[in-house]
Amino acid sequence: APDGLAATPPMGWSSWNKFAEHIDDKTIRAMADALVSTGLRDAGYTYVNIDDGWQGTRGADGVLRPNAKFPDMKALADYVHARGLKLGIYSSQGPKTCAGYEGSYGHVAQDAKTFAGWGMDYLKYDLCSGEWFYADADTVKRSYYEMGAALRATGRRIVFSLCEYGRFDVGAWGRSVGGHLWRTTGDITDDYPTMAKIGFDKNGNADHAGPGGWNDPDMLEIGNGGMSDDEYRSHMTLWAMSAAPLVMGHDLRRTSDHALALLKNRAVIAIDQEKLGQQGKAVRKQGEIEIWRKTLADGSVALALFNRGTGAARVTLSAADAGMPITALRDVWQGRTLAPETTDFAVPGHGAVLLMARGG
Ligand code: DGJ
Repeated sequence: APDGLAATPPMGWSSWNKFAEHIDDKTIRAMADALVSTGLRDAGYTYVNIDDGWQGTRGADGVLRPNAKFPDMKALADYVHARGLKLGIYSSQGPKTCAGYEGSYGHVAQDAKTFAGWGMDYLKYDLCSGEWFYADADTVKRSYYEMGAALRATGRRIVFSLCEYGRFDVGAWGRSVGGHLWRTTGDITDDYPTMAKIGFDKNGNADHAGPGGWNDPDMLEIGNGGMSDDEYRSHMTLWAMSAAPLVMGHDLRRTSDHALALLKNRAVIAIDQEKLGQQGKAVRKQGEIEIWRKTLADGSVALALFNRGTGAARVTLSAADAGMPITALRDVWQGRTLAPETTDFAVPGHGAVLLMARGG
């Protein structure tokens, strides 16, 4: 990417999935602290993103103020930065945001300056407000271009996250308006059917993803409690195979051991963050089984075996799945080396097995 931002998919936390608009300065600080104490920051999760609900009103000068729950944004940014983290903020091109707060309409350059002045490192720009949501492709595209240009004009390096739900083939133009990631769907919810629908079928055109610009199938629900351990394992595996942004969405002060193990697994994160930036995809579908492949820069491949059915399944891996003769094989979640000729795998219902294979 020309600006070098988001060379790998952004990683961090956002307030929306768990807290929606029930956020305040204290909660954001607590999440920053928890990123450090859980080791999640050191595993790569560095963006702390304030989503909708922070906004107050504009002053006579037109400058947007935070609401009373955020007494001092600059001080909050300092607090977050002092912990080796980055701070993100949220707005929308319409007069109102999706939750009905003040949007950036008519104040695009001014808001970009305000965000930069506070020390923001990330902006999620959401398509809301009746007529804006229903605007035509050109209008939507132009609105993202304007904010992208306004962010660049501030001189601050700010990751720009587009949220128009994949309605106008955003992957084809997301980079050209300055975007570093773009949502491919409506909102994820904390249940297997929704997560699977997005992760398997609505995660964007893989050809558009790569260093500097990523398909965003929405934030993680791991840790929120609505899915089983196997389902959350599929969630993490799908997002890593898809080179998706890994933005957590649960209360970081209360991460179960199982959720933490899924989120912190270095080998899995390395697959997501791999520098070639290829978005993996299904190479074989057979009934409720999907075999996915993601090729890495060193020629090795990550292979994921997914079971979308509810019953346990046996999967037989074929040489064609890997696209090469396998000479070394590892089960990533189990952290175990396997015999390279292993072809028979048990995959629990709604579960996943993740393998790293080498050839040659
Ligand atoms: C819709 C987005 O898709 C969500 O992620 C969240 O940002 C809400 N809007 C906030 O209103």
